[in-house]
Amino acid sequence: MSLLEVREVTRRFGGLTAVDNVSFNVPEGEICAVIGPNGAGKSTLFNCLTGFDSPDAGTVTFAGRELVGMRPDRVVRAGVARTFQNTQLFEEMSARENVMVGCHAKTRAGFVSTALRLPWTVKEERLAAEDADRLLRLVGLEEWRDAPAADMPHGLRRLLEIARALATQPHLMLLDEPAAGLNNSETEALAHALYRIRDHGATLVVVEHDMGLVMEVSDQIVVLDRGCKIAEGPPRLIQKDPEVIRAYLGEEDPEDV
Ligand SMILES: Nc1ncnc2c1ncn2[C@@H]1O[C@H](COP(=O)(O)OP(=O)(O)O)[C@@H](O)[C@H]1O
Ligand SMILES: [Mg+2]
Repeated sequence: MSLLEVREVTRRFGGLTAVDNVSFNVPEGEICAVIGPNGAGKSTLFNCLTGFDSPDAGTVTFAGRELVGMRPDRVVRAGVARTFQNTQLFEEMSARENVMVGCHAKTRAGFVSTALRLPWTVKEERLAAEDADRLLRLVGLEEWRDAPAADMPHGLRRLLEIARALATQPHLMLLDEPAAGLNNSETEALAHALYRIRDHGATLVVVEHDMGLVMEVSDQIVVLDRGCKIAEGPPRLIQKDPEVIRAYLGEEDPEDV
C-alpha cells in the first residue's frame, strides 16, 4: 500500500474544472514532484489533499485514512504538513519561535497556556525549543535562530517555512513551489534539505517549476495540464514525453516559438 493514494479527485470552480479526475500514488520514503504549466491545478490539488479545500469527487487516502472532509488541523494531526506558494511566516518572531509555533500544533501547550506559563508548559516549551533548534540545523538555518523572520533573505525564509512544517512531525510533507524566487545556491541548499528530510523518514510531494531541481530530486513525477494528469513516471521518461513537451511549449508566447 502507498502512503498516499489520490483517487479520481475532481475540483470544479463554476464552469472550470481545475482538477479533473486525477489519480496517483506516492510510496513511502519517495520524493514525488507535481509539475505543470501555470493554472494546471497544482495548488488546487494540494488544497484538496490538506483539508483547505474539498474535492467535488474522489478520495485521498493517507496511511489508510480518508483525508477528504477533514479540517486542516486534523490533517496536520494525522501526519501531513504543507507549505504554501506564498511564504506565510510570523514576521516579528525569531526563526526559532516560528518553528516552535509548528511544535505547538502537535503538543498540548497551545498559545494561551503557553502565555500563562502553566507549570507543565514550561517543560514543553523547553522541549519545543530543543526541537526547533534541531530542525533549524536540519535545514541549515542554525545561525539565524534569533533573527526575526522579517530580516531573513527570501531563500532562507522558504527554508524556515519548511522547518516550521517539519515541527509537526509529519510523515508526509507537501511543498508548494519551494524554489520560487531562489537563486542557484539557495536552490542547491533546498535540494540538500529535501534529501535530509527524506532521509529522516518523511515522504515528500513537491509542486515545483524549477525543472533542474525536479529532475534532480524526484523519484516520480506527475504532470498536470489544465487539470488533467497527462503523464507520470521517473524523470528520465518525463523529460522525453511528447505530451509533456507539448504542454510546456504551449505555455510560451506563440510569437516566441
Ligand atoms: N478559489 C478559486 N476560485 C475560482 N477559480 C480558482 C480558484 N482557485 C484556483 N482557481 C482556478 O483554477 C485553476 C487552477 O489554479 P491553480 O490550482 O492555482 O493552478 P497552479 O497551482 O497549477 O498554477 C486556475 O485556472 C485558477 O484560476
Ligand atoms: Mg500554484
